[in-house]
Amino acid sequence: LCLGRVLRSCLYVKMSQLTLETYQEWPNLDLIFIYPLSQLPTPQHPKIRLYNAEQVLSWEPVALSNSTRPVVYRVQFKYTDSEWFMTDVMSIGVNCTQITATECDFTAASPSAGFPMDFNVTLRLRAELGALHSAWVTMPWFQHYRNVTVGPPENIEVTPGEGSLIIRFSSPFDIADTSTAFFWYHVHYWEKGGIQQVKGPFRSNSISLDNLKPFRVYCLQVQAQLLWNKSNILRLGHLSNTSCYETMADASTELQQVILISVGTFSLLSVVAGACFFLVLKYRGLIKYWFHTPPSIPLQIEEYLKDPTQPILEALDKDSSPKDDVWDSVSIISFPEKEQDDVLQTL
Ligand SMILES: *[C@@H]1O[C@H](CO)[C@@H](O)[C@H](O)[C@H]1NC(C)=O
Ligand SMILES: *[C@@H]1O[C@H](CO)[C@@H](O)[C@H](O)[C@H]1NC(C)=O
Ligand SMILES: *[C@@H]1O[C@H](CO)[C@@H](O)[C@H](O)[C@H]1NC(C)=O
Ligand SMILES: *[C@@H]1O[C@H](CO)[C@@H](O)[C@H](O)[C@H]1NC(C)=O
Ligand SMILES: *[C@@H]1O[C@H](CO)[C@@H](O)[C@H](O)[C@H]1NC(C)=O
Ligand SMILES: *[C@@H]1O[C@H](CO)[C@@H](O)[C@H](O)[C@H]1NC(C)=O
Repeated sequence: LCLGRVLRSCLYVKMSQLTLETYQEWPNLDLIFIYPLSQLPTPQHPKIRLYNAEQVLSWEPVALSNSTRPVVYRVQFKYTDSEWFMTDVMSIGVNCTQITATECDFTAASPSAGFPMDFNVTLRLRAELGALHSAWVTMPWFQHYRNVTVGPPENIEVTPGEGSLIIRFSSPFDIADTSTAFFWYHVHYWEKGGIQQVKGPFRSNSISLDNLKPFRVYCLQVQAQLLWNKSNILRLGHLSNTSCYETMADASTELQQVILISVGTFSLLSVVAGACFFLVLKYRGLIKYWFHTPPSIPLQIEEYLKDPTQPILEALDKDSSPKDDVWDSVSIISFPEKEQDDVLQTL
């Protein structure tokens, strides 16, 4: 029961409990009538998103009918055995005190960029409107390394090699202290239409899949796994999207190719040569006819016939005959067989 705005004070009777409270200088008497102090509805469906490096608390807005002023929210946090802290720029680097937004993104905090990933953090949240507020909603505690959802490796680059694929990628998120937490990687791969195989774990961001068949299409997915050895925590991450690549020739295939091409060319040439030979044989008469030159008398004979007194025939005889009988010296060189073998070996 409110006694009216003019009084600037209000007697409030909650019928169920019959409590009487007086508020001085209260500007929004209607609201007090509808929502008794500390009875503002709590924000609904709060959730913590821990995806890669992200740390975000979000909730659904508290909708108050007839309120002209916006509802604001307050988030507080604590570590294992500490008291509750305000989320403001001084404490965590982000202000989530009396905010109208329905999320608090700790990742945006600078310079800390959120809670340290190995801290045990508990968050709580309430709605506020003037002097009114809701009850606190306390979230389950979390440790980032323990509760995080690990995404797939990023910036995946694949270079097809000789019967291999070289995969490079970056980690899902940066880890500050790699001595206690680090990533392992697994590669799932399969020849298109074949059975899936898994290779790993690897610590390196560069993985080579060897002994693949050349000129085949292989598909692959990469997966990260977070290890936090302080608590023996293993968080298996999401698989990357499937992507497919064709391998290139390896050295032996290249040699095979060269041989194949050589043999192929040789066979082709042989066939062509054979065909020509066959044609020549078959159409010998025709060819003779085409290349036929009228018979002619050799020049010197012709001259002789013109003037039989000239001693041309003797001259011809002199020119040719003695030379035929001249031999250059012929030497026959032979190695004994054993020596020859030695020479080959030293070569
Ligand atoms: C809110 O305001 C409307 C008129 O604007 C009124 O009909 C309704 O009863 C009010 N609701 C409450 C809970 O006072
Ligand atoms: C984290 O802190 C909460 C209390 O805030 C406690 O109940 C919980 O056991 C702690 N978890 C670990 C792993 O220490
Ligand atoms: C936090 O932000 C809200 C609005 O965004 C502002 O009203 C409030 O004063 C800020 N609080 C602090 C402690 O800076
Ligand atoms: C984090 O994981 C622990 C158990 O490992 C669980 O009890 C806790 O509720 C989780 N926290 C969140 C916010 O999911
Ligand atoms: C955690 O990992 C580091 C580095 O790999 C190693 O030196 C250390 O012994 C490990 N601690 C535990 C508890 O396994
Ligand atoms: C993976 O595929 C989904 C849908 O198929 C797409 O929305 C997403 O952007 C892809 N991710 C990457 C890293 O390409």
